[in-house]
Amino acid sequence: MKAQTMPSPIVELERASWDADTPADPQWTAAVESGKVLLFPRLAFALLPEERALLREDMLSPKARNVSLRSDGVLKGASGTALEQARLATMIARFRAQALSLVDSLFPAYRGALSTAPTSFRPRRVETRTQSVRADDRRMHVDAFPSRPNYGERILRVFANINPDGVPRVWRVGGDFESVARQFLPRAKRYSLWQAKALQALHVTKSLRSEYDHLMLQLHDRMKFDEQWQQQGRQWRVPFPAGSCWVCYSDQAVHAVMEGQYMMEQTLYLPPGREADPAASPLGILTRLMGRPLVGAGAGVGR
Ligand code: SIN
Ligand code: FE
Repeated sequence: MKAQTMPSPIVELERASWDADTPADPQWTAAVESGKVLLFPRLAFALLPEERALLREDMLSPKARNVSLRSDGVLKGASGTALEQARLATMIARFRAQALSLVDSLFPAYRGALSTAPTSFRPRRVETRTQSVRADDRRMHVDAFPSRPNYGERILRVFANINPDGVPRVWRVGGDFESVARQFLPRAKRYSLWQAKALQALHVTKSLRSEYDHLMLQLHDRMKFDEQWQQQGRQWRVPFPAGSCWVCYSDQAVHAVMEGQYMMEQTLYLPPGREADPAASPLGILTRLMGRPLVGAGAGVGR
């Protein structure tokens, strides 16, 4: 079988503490920077007894996708009583601290360079979500933001499955970024600086969409709309057990979420070029494949 001869995109690490328990191994950075998903099967986010009652779908306010906690402590997207919301904020803040501690001890080279997004709690059951094709994360994709150009800034994510009934969170993980990019780039629409300027003037984007951002969105969309590739493209089904945690660059690791409920998530941003090996990044790979600068002055696009 094809699947058995291909290197797995998952790297398992036997670590059971959110804090540094062994010196960092540069191979962990190399693995995540090559698009692998680092899986910690024994690293559980522990709930306090009073937090168990917060694992309910109706802790989410009806219009929100996730509950999120900003770094200034403001909770968004939650319903429930004031006491429940206060407990939820405490729980999410604890996950935030543990996720940041984990990343700090895994990737010391990134120290001082990372910034953080709000921390999220995702109580919705994945299987019952209905979404447009473009928004449907049950289709394999790389993360790219339509309204927020990022010029190659990296999206590093820490996830924890906190399901109380032992239900795994099941992902599909695709082949390596370069192979997938080579497959889909020929179908990408050409970048238009004129159009990027119009999108900015209309406030569709918060800043000028660079060619890099354009290509990442094209890859995201072309992947999601290719029904045959979704079904038959190279992929691994990966059940992340309840009580596990995993870390990946979600702008690079091709992924889809298929099943599960109750997850914590922390996003961190790394400035472009701050990787140990910038050439292995989506920006590095796409720049090489396109044969020209895709961001910055060289591309005729200022930040
Ligand atoms: C995604 O980032 O596409 C979804 C991840 C998840 O909800 O497990
Ligand atoms: Fe995603």
